[in-house]
Amino acid sequence: TSPQVDSNDGLAVLERRGSVAETYGIPLAVLLELTHRCPLQCPYCSNPLELDRAGQELTTAEWKKVLSELAEIGVLQIHFSGGEPTARKDLVELVQHANDVGLYTNLITSAVLLTRERLKELADAGLSHVQISFQGNEPVVADRVGGYKGGHAKKIEVARWTRELDLPLTVNAVMHRQNLHQLPEIIQMAVDLDADRLEVANVQYYGWALKNRASLMPTYAQLEETDRLVEDARERLKGTLTIDYVVPDYYALRPKKCMGGWGRQFFNISPSGKVLPCHAAESITGLDFMSVRSNNSIAWIWQNSEAFNRYRGTGWMKEPCKSCDFREIDFGGCRCQAFALTGDAGNTDPACTLSPLHESIFKQAERDAASGQDRFLYRNFAGGTPESGDDA
Ligand code: SF4
Ligand code: FES
Repeated sequence: TSPQVDSNDGLAVLERRGSVAETYGIPLAVLLELTHRCPLQCPYCSNPLELDRAGQELTTAEWKKVLSELAEIGVLQIHFSGGEPTARKDLVELVQHANDVGLYTNLITSAVLLTRERLKELADAGLSHVQISFQGNEPVVADRVGGYKGGHAKKIEVARWTRELDLPLTVNAVMHRQNLHQLPEIIQMAVDLDADRLEVANVQYYGWALKNRASLMPTYAQLEETDRLVEDARERLKGTLTIDYVVPDYYALRPKKCMGGWGRQFFNISPSGKVLPCHAAESITGLDFMSVRSNNSIAWIWQNSEAFNRYRGTGWMKEPCKSCDFREIDFGGCRCQAFALTGDAGNTDPACTLSPLHESIFKQAERDAASGQDRFLYRNFAGGTPESGDDA
């Protein structure tokens, strides 16, 4: 669910507003992870294994200061995310403040904690857009994946309220081996819910998701079928539903341009205020991320901090990226995936065929997909360890 924005547009905005960020334009859209708390326990969660606790979260006053500062330096859009952002009691106040300082706001939510009254309050406070995650098209699969009974029915209800309140809706569907067979019905569900946009996002394997890779990895045949279904639906639903599609990159030939390139057009802020190049960046050990609680401005952190500059541009690259014609196109792929699979975030993402590890991860994907493993290891935010398996 990471927003991608055009950095050139960002620069134009900065020039108009006379910002100090000259080298790397401040992104147009920023993701704020208000909390890591979440009622769902998705086995593909990409948040780091070590989560921020409620007591470490920025206060209402601190988030408001962040919002004002972001508006001042040229950011136009805020994605309120998590964890589950509606777990924050002050969400209406934060949306109101964002609206007051001129920011367009998107709520990225699992929806299960929302009431109609609260959604109405959010709409009245100026909320501009709602994105709801779905784990399937019906409760048997969806509630099992999310580890939350009654979740699917609630999501459908909230999606309907969203449209009744005249808010634009995006349906986000995270896909994997155990729900890909539902894709045609999920596409139809998005149409029936009157969504503008559907994100068909194959699981990316870092953070908690890596622990469940064998239970989630699609087969190559599923992937080919998904490509066909998405292409067909895009054609058929032109003008009705926009479909974004994220492919599972273990099967790819070249890696994705993750985050549009490290430190080029995206940052997010963690619950405790760390300014991060991507939502999974804390899974890379040995990098120091600066906080909005430090004495430096957000624009300064974006431009100058070591963590942003470590993998920015192409100067850090080793072979094969260093002399590759694609280095300015994909920026070597995903740093978090390179770290997760090779132990060094400075290596070529093994999703690339030119990586010496590519063949082994492709084979690993095939082995995982053929493993028959269907039990999930659930992330439990409440403490304690839930039973893995299909009883949630
Ligand atoms: Fe991209 Fe590096 Fe692969 Fe070249 S070698 S395609 S720059 S990841
Ligand atoms: Fe962190 Fe790709 S998810 S760089």
